Amino acid sequence: MQSDGFFIVAVDGGAASGKSSTCRALSARFGLLHVDTGSYYRAITHRLLNLGVDPSEPHAVEAALARIDLGTRVADRSAAMVIDGNTPEDEIRGPEVNANVSAFAALPEVRAFLLEYQRSQARTARDGGFAGLIMEGRDIGSVIFPDASFRFFLMADPKARVQRRAAQGQTDSIQERDRLDSQRKSSPLVCPEGAVQVDSTHLTLEEVVEKISEIIEARLGETSSSG
Ligand code: DC
Repeated sequence: MQSDGFFIVAVDGGAASGKSSTCRALSARFGLLHVDTGSYYRAITHRLLNLGVDPSEPHAVEAALARIDLGTRVADRSAAMVIDGNTPEDEIRGPEVNANVSAFAALPEVRAFLLEYQRSQARTARDGGFAGLIMEGRDIGSVIFPDASFRFFLMADPKARVQRRAAQGQTDSIQERDRLDSQRKSSPLVCPEGAVQVDSTHLTLEEVVEKISEIIEARLGETSSSG
């Protein structure tokens, strides 16, 4: 917690573990700017594929990234990436991006390119008058904001996750992406030490949000009564 009360919530977890719905609900409840870093890796993947760049050629990736221009658009309490003047939306959830995003995300060149951009969203949240920032991804509590006020790790059994994606009408190899994301050398998907693990397999979205909110509220209450 920072002296002016601004706080950062890091939420990590595997594919379709319920991060986005949970984070959106928490952002509304606590007045936080929501950042889905998976959408950033997806937008970069989409742009690189459009430029004809292949993840098996890291030098070509690095050269293409050097020419990419990033901005941010805040709408509906959420910070979307503007990439070379566009904000790709539905296209970043399609099968082509699903099939390639883990390969691009495993490249240190791509992770380095996004590191400061992701951290700078704390400034975007402050400048926008938000009470804090809630950021979801794979390495938020371990690499991007290891000192976040709150760090959570969401889990759910793979069957439940496949059903959730199917209900959203998406084709996605959840377990294959998790395998690639967990085994890569650069900032792998891990539950950071000290993070609170929440298993949502048998919980509704409301129950997950309630559980996390109680933890946040308890600490916010402690801070306000101690000072
Ligand atoms: O959360 P998602 O399924 O939309 O994320 C898409 C991919 O992006 C995921 O398979 C791995 C990558 N990713 C990452 O490597 N690090 C993050 N902080 C967020 C996503």
